[in-house]
Amino acid sequence: MIRFGVIGAGRIAQTFSDAVKGVNDAELYAVASRDLEKAQAFKSQHQYKHAYGSYEAMLEDSNVDCVYIATPHGLHYEQMLKCLEYNKPILCEKAFTLNATQAKHVFDIARKKNLFVMEAMWTRFLPVIQAVKEIIADGVIGEIKHLDITFGFHTEAEDRDRIFNPSLGGGALLDIGIYPLTLADMLLGSPEGVETTVKKHPRTGVDIHETMTLSYKNASAQITAAFDENLPNDAKIIGSKGTIVIPFFWQAEEAYIYDDKQNLCEKLSFPHPVNGFEYEIEAVVYCLKNNFKESPIMPHTKTIAMLNQMDALRKAWLINYPNEL
Ligand SMILES: NC(=O)c1ccc[n+]([C@@H]2O[C@H](COP(=O)([O-])OP(=O)(O)OC[C@H]3O[C@@H](n4cnc5c(N)ncnc54)[C@H](OP(=O)(O)O)[C@@H]3O)[C@@H](O)[C@H]2O)c1
Repeated sequence: MIRFGVIGAGRIAQTFSDAVKGVNDAELYAVASRDLEKAQAFKSQHQYKHAYGSYEAMLEDSNVDCVYIATPHGLHYEQMLKCLEYNKPILCEKAFTLNATQAKHVFDIARKKNLFVMEAMWTRFLPVIQAVKEIIADGVIGEIKHLDITFGFHTEAEDRDRIFNPSLGGGALLDIGIYPLTLADMLLGSPEGVETTVKKHPRTGVDIHETMTLSYKNASAQITAAFDENLPNDAKIIGSKGTIVIPFFWQAEEAYIYDDKQNLCEKLSFPHPVNGFEYEIEAVVYCLKNNFKESPIMPHTKTIAMLNQMDALRKAWLINYPNEL
């Protein structure tokens, strides 16, 4: 049984807690918040065994087998270093850190201490995404020529909310742009070139709407991420012999396969048993029980590669975070 301890009793910790209930050999053991009353309410809501009023107090509990970090991006780096100090394996929400330098440092320490660490990029574990990869490998849509992927929604969040707040690692890229970049990476690998545009938040300066045109040897990808506009939020994979459309690709349960005349040939359907987080949690449980130090599906090299891409984009946009190395 893997006993999970959660850092941060916020929005995504709810989703994670629901999913753990659907995973064999995983237990909701402890939750830690900066506020003990909040931790206790969260504990009762999800039937955790323990509630802690500080993150460090939970790390002192030797029964915690793996820590799930569910706080804003700007806090992940320091929190992971603290977890490693206490010899805790880690599942950390995306974006893993603010930049690649921070991620490499975390992985170096984890390697020296022989501890498991994984970025919680749940999209990589979804069965429908795995099935789409197999269909493409089988040549059903021919060679990939173009990807068109959007992830965007209009939000009225306050400037201090984590999504607009630079000191918490705000901005559309690290929050949602990471998903289309990840899918493009899964399908086409690293791009050879990138052209990009950005619109910044008028007061906080973080990126709120960006386009990225990625070029590969024989293909291209058009990606848009936005906090100021509702976008189609699907992924279109256009091949030489057909097209695949994945609605809500980052949390997908379905995909549609079309031939080159736009006739629907097949619908893939993989309904989530809970909410889709269960697949990455199952993978963590498997890795820990089998003494893996990293996941073959979400290896450290991929976390670093995605952060390198995002570092380059932010460099082009002249966007830095106050607390990045
Ligand atoms: N995989 C997905 O689909 C998905 C979806 C949404 C978010 N996420 C990721 O999950 C992480 C958390 O996102 P969220 O939407 O859950 O965030 P959130 O609700 O804004 O914050 C999560 C928790 O972080 C803790 N926290 C610690 N210091 C904080 C500070 N200075 N300001 C604000 N909160 C602080 C708080 O917990 P306490 O008050 O209990 O200490 C807060 O409840 C991010 O990395 C995000 O990218 C993933």
